[in-house]
Amino acid sequence: MNIQSAPDRIIIFDTTLRDGEQCPGATLNVDEKLRIARQLARLGVDVIEAGFAYASPGDFEAVQKIAEAVGTEAGPVICSLARAIQADIQAAAEALKPAAKARIHTFISTSDIHLQYQLRKSREEVLAIAEEMVSYAKSFVDDVEFSPMDAARSDPEYLYQVLERVIAVGAKTVNIPDTVGYMMPSEFGALIRGIKENVPNIDQAVISVHGHNDLGVATANFLEAVKNGARQLECTINGIGERAGNTALEELVMALHVRRQYFNPFLGRPADSEAPLTQINTRELYKTSRMVSNLTGMLVQPNKAIVGANAFAHESGIHQDGVLKNKLTYEIMDAQSIGLTDNQIVLGKHSGRNAFRTRLKELGYDLSEQELNKAFVRFKELADKKKEVSDWDLEAIVSDEIRQAPELFHLERVQVSCGDNATPTATVTVRTPQGEELTDAAIGTGPVDAVYEAINRVVNVPNELIEFSVQSVTAGIDAIGEVTIRLRHNEQIYSGHAANTDIIVASAQAYIHALNRLYAALHKQAQPAIAEQTVAAEV
Ligand code: KIV
Ligand code: ZN
Repeated sequence: MNIQSAPDRIIIFDTTLRDGEQCPGATLNVDEKLRIARQLARLGVDVIEAGFAYASPGDFEAVQKIAEAVGTEAGPVICSLARAIQADIQAAAEALKPAAKARIHTFISTSDIHLQYQLRKSREEVLAIAEEMVSYAKSFVDDVEFSPMDAARSDPEYLYQVLERVIAVGAKTVNIPDTVGYMMPSEFGALIRGIKENVPNIDQAVISVHGHNDLGVATANFLEAVKNGARQLECTINGIGERAGNTALEELVMALHVRRQYFNPFLGRPADSEAPLTQINTRELYKTSRMVSNLTGMLVQPNKAIVGANAFAHESGIHQDGVLKNKLTYEIMDAQSIGLTDNQIVLGKHSGRNAFRTRLKELGYDLSEQELNKAFVRFKELADKKKEVSDWDLEAIVSDEIRQAPELFHLERVQVSCGDNATPTATVTVRTPQGEELTDAAIGTGPVDAVYEAINRVVNVPNELIEFSVQSVTAGIDAIGEVTIRLRHNEQIYSGHAANTDIIVASAQAYIHALNRLYAALHKQAQPAIAEQTVAAEV
């Protein structure tokens, strides 16, 4: 079914891999993007914005691979972003070729402030470009989406004009971005209502919304937009994205799910209808959130709505007492509905390879033989130390094993000595990209600092450590510790992540992983792609 012909449900457009990936340090490689795309398809999103094909060869490849592997007839629409420029649109069309259902999403700014200072073009010029480039995109695919960037700060009368013109030449979705996260919910709702009332041909297109969370009201803005006629929501997992992030998918989906009786009438349904408002399989939400957090290194704050570690925890005595007597006293949704309690303890020391592979498949990890071998070795090591290996542990070791590309420096050994009466001292042995084994030692303010100093002496890539965090995957003294770090070099941020029952080892590995990303980027920068240079100069 054509998703645009379902006006009484909400289309979920996921932009984790495009706008989400744009945030500092969240950069994913092609393989990681593919894994996330597969999980997004399992989650049931309608559209995956897989990237910005023209931006770099890596982005092009990611869009193409996702189109090939996930863009099946039964799967989601695969979309690529493109500026309203012929070369961008051509690259998007080319990368999207393997997709059964392809969409080109083209955009140009419409606010006077962007026209005057960024584009240096008149309103008439932008109107003509928008019309011409939507027609051009239509020459490649039928499904074209148009975004007037900074729509929220554009003159509404001009916005209506632009929308009417792009719909007339075939835009099937018109997306209204609050690019700078400026709007308040009632204003955003009024903007959508104004579009519905003043764009004569609006019934020929789906109204979509896109927003950033600078003032913390992105979800509220979208829900108000739904009440006023928006039928597509552009969002990201865990709300990752530029600055304060994009609107969070899990918040929107669960608000529409838990309060569907409130929203039903706005979609022309009877108030008591139980039919879901989105096609999302909510039980996949938690798993998707974990995967995105692990792969991007963007941690989820504990009190984050829906997917934060505390979102379903009841600490105070009064709350615990109430929940024990009847869950409804303090719970508006069931942890099961987001897949939180689906993770059962399933494997142990005696579990074989087959059980391991099967459980990983159920968890959404389809590993190559080589990856499976590596992960299985890690699993056995862990099962020796830990009686019960939970799904959270499995996820931690698998994502740890598979996300570490490229491996340039390799940590061979790490040893620390510390204590209340000792100077923390670390010795590390690292294999360099050239295959040399180097050993060095250093002292530090604590054991992790000593390890990082010792690694720095070997690797010798200057950087500033800006974030270090350790989280335990499960409860208990034998739990795996997950370390996430972010470091900065020349204004760029690189993240590293590792999991181990020994948090000093995990810290050392996380650091090496971030350094590998930094080192790879430095070497890539030596020969920048033409497309990357052009986009940086023009956007
Ligand atoms: O925030 C924004 O305006 C965007 C557009 C490209 C849709 O991301
Ligand atoms: Zn955006």
